[in-house]
Amino acid sequence: MIDIIQIEDFYIIYMDTIVAVIRNHISSGDDSRIFRHAGDIIKDGGLVAFPTETVYGLGGDALNPESSKKIYAAKGRPSDNPLIVHIADWTSIKKICVDIPDEAKQLADAFWPGPLTMILKKSSAVPYETTGGLDTVAVRLPDHPVAISLIKAAGGYIAAPSANLSGRPSPTTAAHVIEDMDGRIDMILDDGDVGIGLESTIVDLTERVPVILRPGYVTQEMLNRVLGRVDVDITLMDQGSGQAPKAPGMKYRHYAPKGSMRLIEGDQEAVIRTMNAEVKKARLRGERTGVMITDEIWERVSADVKKSVGNRENEYEIARRLYRILREFDEEGVTAIFSESFSSDGFGQAVMNRLLKAAGYTVEKV
Ligand code: TXA
Ligand code: MG
Repeated sequence: MIDIIQIEDFYIIYMDTIVAVIRNHISSGDDSRIFRHAGDIIKDGGLVAFPTETVYGLGGDALNPESSKKIYAAKGRPSDNPLIVHIADWTSIKKICVDIPDEAKQLADAFWPGPLTMILKKSSAVPYETTGGLDTVAVRLPDHPVAISLIKAAGGYIAAPSANLSGRPSPTTAAHVIEDMDGRIDMILDDGDVGIGLESTIVDLTERVPVILRPGYVTQEMLNRVLGRVDVDITLMDQGSGQAPKAPGMKYRHYAPKGSMRLIEGDQEAVIRTMNAEVKKARLRGERTGVMITDEIWERVSADVKKSVGNRENEYEIARRLYRILREFDEEGVTAIFSESFSSDGFGQAVMNRLLKAAGYTVEKV
């Protein structure tokens, strides 16, 4: 049974985990009861999932080692995979980082609040449980009023990975969080769909030349414009390099649907032909087939389950839909998935990085 309780503009639904439905939040929430309640849960060592502009996060007190241990346990995540510390204003960074380079302030002025995470040297205030044993810490100031209100109510420092079970696609709605986390955490703040749909860009500022460890909405070009030169971790788009990725989390098989997935890349007519042929073959093997395709070829491809990522030119829409579609393939029991491939320019680099990982880097060029 589910009890629903309304407080002011907020609805609280009690399941195993409390779900507080927040709609039309107008950023005045710091002193409201819901944020006090959620903030107290985190201060007491509990876990609260919350929306950000990228994906939903699973938050605990970043300065409390026991909270970080709970986060790893709730996600089923290896504890050598460090967490991102979320702050609500620039000055908060001074307590958790040392030797902060000028580049950090430049990037903060340009992109914070926003979907950019910076790797900096950590101070002794940050426990090794939060950084997976590293002397560096990932810091991000999210662009979402609910996230900001929660961080403030919780004392200023929330460690938050994406709020999915380890190995599942990141959650872009509260329903995804409930699917993965109900009963494992104390509370979920539900503010509907997120805006971006892919995790933040991570840039490492502890190297001589800043390096992108995970591509995201803030692109290499955008970072170059501020810093002059930014490199990209070469392992991101290619597994053949034989090197380990620099962000520990990027080495795990992430973002993966349960079915096998293959990307088909090439000229539009060849992609249509190959996809239809592959679907036919897979069906003969007894597979339940799924295709992830753009509106441009929608009418010309058939499969048991079809999902549209929208218009080919709109990588923002593709990003917003990607994780939801991967979860839907799972729910609908699809065992063989074929997807179109997209341009890796600009924000497309983030989209293709996630797609390549979901597909285990199997691309068929036609
Ligand atoms: O958009 C986002 O960044 C979301 C929202 C909730 O803020 N969070 C997120 O967290 O994606 P998570 O834990 O799913 O991914 C964090 C990534 C992992 O790949 C981790 O290895 C890397 O950041 N990371 C964290 N701290 C690091 C550090 N000190 N050095 C290198 N990589 C680090
Ligand atoms: Mg994650």
